[in-house]
Amino acid sequence: MKGIILAGGAGSRLYPLTLVASKQLQPVYDKPMVYYPLTTLIEGGVREFCLISTPHDLPRFRQLLGDGSAWGLQIEYREQSRPEGIAQAFRIADSFIGNDPVTLILGDNIFYGGDTFSRAFSDFSSGAVIFGYHVTDPERYGVVEFDAAGRAVSIEEKPKQPKSNYAVPGLYIYDNSIVALARDLKPSARGELEITDVNVEYLRRGSLRVYTLNRGFAWLDAGTSSSLHEASAYVQTIEKRQGIKIGCPEEAAFRRGFISLAQLTALVDKLPRCEYREYLANVVAEAQR
Ligand code: G1P
Repeated sequence: MKGIILAGGAGSRLYPLTLVASKQLQPVYDKPMVYYPLTTLIEGGVREFCLISTPHDLPRFRQLLGDGSAWGLQIEYREQSRPEGIAQAFRIADSFIGNDPVTLILGDNIFYGGDTFSRAFSDFSSGAVIFGYHVTDPERYGVVEFDAAGRAVSIEEKPKQPKSNYAVPGLYIYDNSIVALARDLKPSARGELEITDVNVEYLRRGSLRVYTLNRGFAWLDAGTSSSLHEASAYVQTIEKRQGIKIGCPEEAAFRRGFISLAQLTALVDKLPRCEYREYLANVVAEAQR
């Protein structure tokens, strides 16, 4: 399974924070935002990544993540010179995807809790998998409607009159037919290649599966100054209480077996003295016990 992280957009709602660093590089409590979606995919078993961003921001992402080899990953970078919708990512990354299935995560989506994602990744064989999350403001999102038997019957992008409270979060899993499907996609009325149109097409073909993310699962928005602040507070609350970190790629790569204990130890040795280093040193110490 290949992984795409889409980290484009102007981040205008976070102005002036985004004048010099893009939205997905902003801190969410103690880490850059992009660490969270990256970690979500590592936990799902993904090792090969393509990060897509604007020509302006791409160098910063390279600086932050490099080629991924230190974490047992491969990370490639591609430019999205004009923002023409989420599904444009599959056109930009088609040579990266090759003949494999692919998962796409939005660089500003922060998830925490439960095992639904790991089940979705390990059970995936064909078609498409998306998720449904109960929210108070579904009109801001893609919205999925279920029938009495819990089967998805419709998906609409930012409907004025939502047919349910289930929003579709920014994590999608597709088989390789996504490449041809994205190639043939037509722009919507707002001029974008819509991810919702992709999902509607899989639904029409009868090959879309929707998992609902239940109580106890957090999907956080970090798109405005206030929601960014709330996301930071949430992460801080959990981390302080539990003594575990959310969105720590080094730890996730180690737990997934992408790097050995010796490699993790070497990584820790290179970090400056800080709380992040102490945390990882603890992960090492616990693993040695
Ligand atoms: C996009 C998608 C929408 C999805 C949302 C998740 O919306 O178009 O279907 O629910 O991401 O974050 P946007 O962030 O572009 O408003």
